Amino acid sequence: MKENNYVSELTELAAWRDALAVEGKRVVLTNGCFDLLHAGHVRYLKEARALGDALVVALNSDTSVKALKGDGRPVHCAQDRAEILCALEAVDRVVVFDQARVTGVIESLRPQVYAKGGDYTVESLNAEERGALEGVGAEIRILSLVPGRSTSRTLKQMAETEGAERKAKLGVLGSGKGSNLDAIFKKIDAGELNAEVVVVISDVAGAGILDLAKEREVQVIRIDPGYEKGGQLSDGAIKEITDRLRAAGVDLVVLAGFMKIVRGELLDEYSGRMLNIHPSLLPKFKGLAAWKQALDAGVKETGCTVHLVSAGVDSGEILGQAKVPVMEGDTAVEVHARIQEQEYELYSRVIGEILDAMAQ
Ligand code: GAR
Repeated sequence: MKENNYVSELTELAAWRDALAVEGKRVVLTNGCFDLLHAGHVRYLKEARALGDALVVALNSDTSVKALKGDGRPVHCAQDRAEILCALEAVDRVVVFDQARVTGVIESLRPQVYAKGGDYTVESLNAEERGALEGVGAEIRILSLVPGRSTSRTLKQMAETEGAERKAKLGVLGSGKGSNLDAIFKKIDAGELNAEVVVVISDVAGAGILDLAKEREVQVIRIDPGYEKGGQLSDGAIKEITDRLRAAGVDLVVLAGFMKIVRGELLDEYSGRMLNIHPSLLPKFKGLAAWKQALDAGVKETGCTVHLVSAGVDSGEILGQAKVPVMEGDTAVEVHARIQEQEYELYSRVIGEILDAMAQ
């Protein structure tokens, strides 16, 4: 059973080595950064330990790892790296060294064996370190590395996974049946939109959009708008929506049939990160039942618009539009249905585009 050891001082190590030598035991030394432990390290350390009776790992300090490997390294601090190494069966002692070379440790410890990974040869060892090893009579052993295992490879894989898996978080606000939200869910299901809906908020109790979100096991919140009628939201409602979106870690706010006016801290917090879809070719026919306004105006063409939300109603930078014809004899319901078919395509496309732009 190995001792429950931890980081050792050099002087203490030298005395320990001498006591072992009296018993005829050989100390093996190896050194490295051991920044992100992987199976290659574990197997290497086991092999190194088998070359003698005790294994000392000289661990590069944080400053020396940074100097060797660059900014962003080490991943774990020296104390943590030492603790992890000490937990391995093969490791008897860890000593942290701050210099570029391990020469000082070699001279003080006087190991009987020095082990190094197979990316070196005896000839390519640093001349100063090799001189010190020869000076203390250490046998130099080069151990083969485990193929396919390396810290840089692990870090690369992690970076790739992180990039692929990071899904933008959408917070959806709606007052109605939620068919636009349904279309967004379907685009996500189909892999056409790399995002997840994390919260759905409505000012209308029993709104279809809330049921839809519940079916999808998305967090749903019903807020009290503070007014029974009209497009206004009380200061309290504005604050609650902002807090809830923030708490859910929302990256982009999507208004999907939200019939209230957004203002104040909600607008400030999500400026440039809040979209609305409106059922007309803005700037034409702002406000309520825009499809009916278009029909009443006798236009031959209408459509839908996705825009950034700004202080004015149905204003803000236009990000995308889709057109539909208005046909002879159309009812308002038919025009709206035709527009909505386009909304379902347009909204997800623009959401994807803005998320891509935000990720740059
Ligand atoms: C959509 O047609 C949307 O464009 C409109 O409400 C409908 C919501 O339908 N929004 C506005 O008029 C905003 N000014 P949905 O609840 O089925 O998605």
